[in-house]
Amino acid sequence: MFISFEGIEGSGKSTQIELLESALKDLGHEVKKLREPGTTMLGERIRDIFLEETNETVDPITEAFLLYASRKHLDQNILRKSLENGCIVIADRYADATIAYQCFGKGLSIDFINYIHANSKLLTPDLTFYMDISAEKSKERISRREMDRMESEPQDFFERVRKGYLEIATKDPDRVVCLDANKSIEELKSQIIEKTLEKINATLG
Ligand code: TMP
Repeated sequence: MFISFEGIEGSGKSTQIELLESALKDLGHEVKKLREPGTTMLGERIRDIFLEETNETVDPITEAFLLYASRKHLDQNILRKSLENGCIVIADRYADATIAYQCFGKGLSIDFINYIHANSKLLTPDLTFYMDISAEKSKERISRREMDRMESEPQDFFERVRKGYLEIATKDPDRVVCLDANKSIEELKSQIIEKTLEKINATLG
């Protein structure tokens, strides 16, 4: 089973991914954690390039090709093999992030991304947790740390990205679980574990 986590910066994805990983391992599942862009050697190099601050203009098309190079490589080298070996794969972001950040955030065409995605023969997660917080709260949380190229975008960018995620969640309610990321870590953890176990049971039939 392929699970992804999505949300704008500071939404608490990493904490919940760790908690879900450990709960699933306790239940005897094999878990493979991924992050996007990244995970593979090539992907981690792309990640560095993607996130590095620069004075040059980086067009969303350039971003999309970097992201899809990393994504295809991850699919070919780790994702599919892990799924074939029966692992539960947990991805810290996947293709929804491109629709939210590059399309809603930066104006790239959704049809264009859907075309690249389909022609790259990539998978769609079975289950996605979208952790929703306001752009204001996100900015407040990340302002405490050193920011990368994407985190340095203005608040209205994150407002558009959030709107994108909410639209994705509304359009695909069977796959995307929209969580109020203002809730406590424990509350979110129980909701996430409950939904994941439901999905696992439904998949096993
Ligand atoms: P993160 O791993 O800390 O969330 O950082 C990844 C950054 O890359 C984050 O700002 C979101 C951005 N990103 C995109 O803009 N598009 C994408 O498709 C992905 C996967 C990430």
